[in-house]
Amino acid sequence: MKNKLAIVTGGAMGYKSGGPSIGGAISIRLARDGYNVVVVDIGDMGQKTVDIIGENKGKAIFVKADVTKKSDIDTILKETKSNFGGLHCLVNCVTRYSGGMAKNVVDITEEEWSKTLEVNLNGYFKMAKYCIPLILESDGGTIVNISSIESLTAMPNFSIYSVSKAAVDALTRSLAVDFAPKIRTNSVLPGFVKIANSENNRTTEELNSWYHNIAKKYPMKRVCTVEEIANVVSFLASNESSYINGQSIIVDGGKTISDLHQF
Ligand SMILES: NC(=O)c1ccc[n+]([C@@H]2O[C@H](COP(=O)([O-])OP(=O)(O)OC[C@H]3O[C@@H](n4cnc5c(N)ncnc54)[C@H](O)[C@@H]3O)[C@@H](O)[C@H]2O)c1
Repeated sequence: MKNKLAIVTGGAMGYKSGGPSIGGAISIRLARDGYNVVVVDIGDMGQKTVDIIGENKGKAIFVKADVTKKSDIDTILKETKSNFGGLHCLVNCVTRYSGGMAKNVVDITEEEWSKTLEVNLNGYFKMAKYCIPLILESDGGTIVNISSIESLTAMPNFSIYSVSKAAVDALTRSLAVDFAPKIRTNSVLPGFVKIANSENNRTTEELNSWYHNIAKKYPMKRVCTVEEIANVVSFLASNESSYINGQSIIVDGGKTISDLHQF
């Protein structure tokens, strides 16, 4: 793994004090696997991820950037080249969460619809578009897009999120066909994952009861940890998955295949 490099977008640790996030866990896991990591996020807690990697003797840098802006992507690539050289893995993991996007198609504003698509889809498209030439120059690698089971199912009043994740899976298949065999591209579809950003001013009691109620709907009877998503990304980024390309890998403890009503 010596000299291999990964970029992880949305790699900041979450909420106020830098608690768990999926992108943070992926960055830490890839560093443990031996990658040098470029942690990209619009939020300052990307530095916290880099600090954790450093404490564990890994090598990482934080680039504070907005993945929807070409000028920021230019900075990411410039920093990547000047600090490390090539590029072997891109993990797209950003998402936009806002009260305004949590609406049905009639109630959501056109502005909220477009803003969400700009991050959740175009942020993935633009990073792929501008990183792929560098991955090809580096003799190939892998792309992992973080999607969601909402790509396949519809949560009430979450229309644009579902649409954006279904589009990410379609983008994944197009990349897989257009850039194999040099680049393998897959997506990961988590169910509910416990992250710090969900705390969002909830008390511990409110949080635990929320998790408990969600967990009841999952065959595993618990919610997923960020590490359980990072493990799958690690596998998809590695040669252990050398013939898996263009797939949407569901990591939801059996939620989408379960029919929990009683006969
Ligand atoms: N948490 C879950 O239950 C869950 C379930 C399924 C899928 N996912 C997916 O996992 C991924 C990670 O999300 P998370 O749940 O860890 O949430 P999170 O809020 O902790 O992570 C998202 C990160 O993206 C960053 N970001 C947003 N817009 C950006 C931009 N324009 N440029 C750069 N960075 C930007 C945010 O600052 C944040 O750090 C997302 O793609 C999300 O859709 C999460």
